[in-house]
Amino acid sequence: MTMPFRTATMPVPNEGPGAFEAMRAAQAIRDRLGSAFQTPACGIVLGSGLGGLAAQVQNATFIPFADIPGFPSATVAGHAGQLVLGTLEHVPVAMFAGRLHMYEGHAPATAGFPVRVLHALGASVYVASNAAGGVNRTYEPGDLMLIADHINMMFKNPLHGPQQKGDQRFPDMADPYDKSLRVSMHKVAQARGIDLKEGVYMGLVGPTYETPAEVRMIEKFGADAVGMSTVPEVIVATALGMKCAAVSLITNKAAGISLVPLAHDEVLQVGREAAAKFEQLIRGFVATLGS
Ligand code: HPA
Repeated sequence: MTMPFRTATMPVPNEGPGAFEAMRAAQAIRDRLGSAFQTPACGIVLGSGLGGLAAQVQNATFIPFADIPGFPSATVAGHAGQLVLGTLEHVPVAMFAGRLHMYEGHAPATAGFPVRVLHALGASVYVASNAAGGVNRTYEPGDLMLIADHINMMFKNPLHGPQQKGDQRFPDMADPYDKSLRVSMHKVAQARGIDLKEGVYMGLVGPTYETPAEVRMIEKFGADAVGMSTVPEVIVATALGMKCAAVSLITNKAAGISLVPLAHDEVLQVGREAAAKFEQLIRGFVATLGS
């Protein structure tokens, strides 16, 4: 007998690793550290050009992405691709130097996977950092912007597919960048004399930088900065009940706002110059988690 119509299919499983793979990865990491393992108070992802903070971790253990089960290796210039565990300001941290971008071809769930691993290691706070283009016309290259909120223009969601163990099915996104953590960041910035803007980040999939017309749209939509990461990570963190904070380093004025063409090398160069401010901010913030 032939079937004239197709029947409904099973939901399409989300490509990319999920909760089970994160537990397996966390177990492998714990096993590697043995008795040196300390539950991180905070998980951090370092964005393009911001990897220098990894070298400041005390009693550090470096684990290449390739040694973490479920992890592909990161490929972008400026992303070393390793997990660093140790302490910063005497507070245990787990820090990814490098991330998994959707523009590399990674599924949204894969882009959020490092955050699942941080959660599975026991971190309840997630701190993201990224390089971003300044859309707000008052922003200059080298400025730091605390993310107050985001707009997901990646048109994908890392939670698409069967609900993962530990995830909320319909996470509330009313306050994804925790208010109390933002207050702490501003206090640290003020105490250390760091100018810290606060604004809305729009995530686009990339890898092209935006056209001037797109930047005008982004500005009208209410974003202050634009980049190609962070949104899938923060969605996963929110679904898992982690508190998030995120800092954008404005490496350039977005297309059309500046008439100078964009280059990835320039993004990395501005990153190196502003890295000291960023490192001070994150160190000060991490110190508040230990008190
Ligand atoms: N657009 C998108 N992503 C970016 C930019 C930009 O101008 N600068 C650094 N990352």
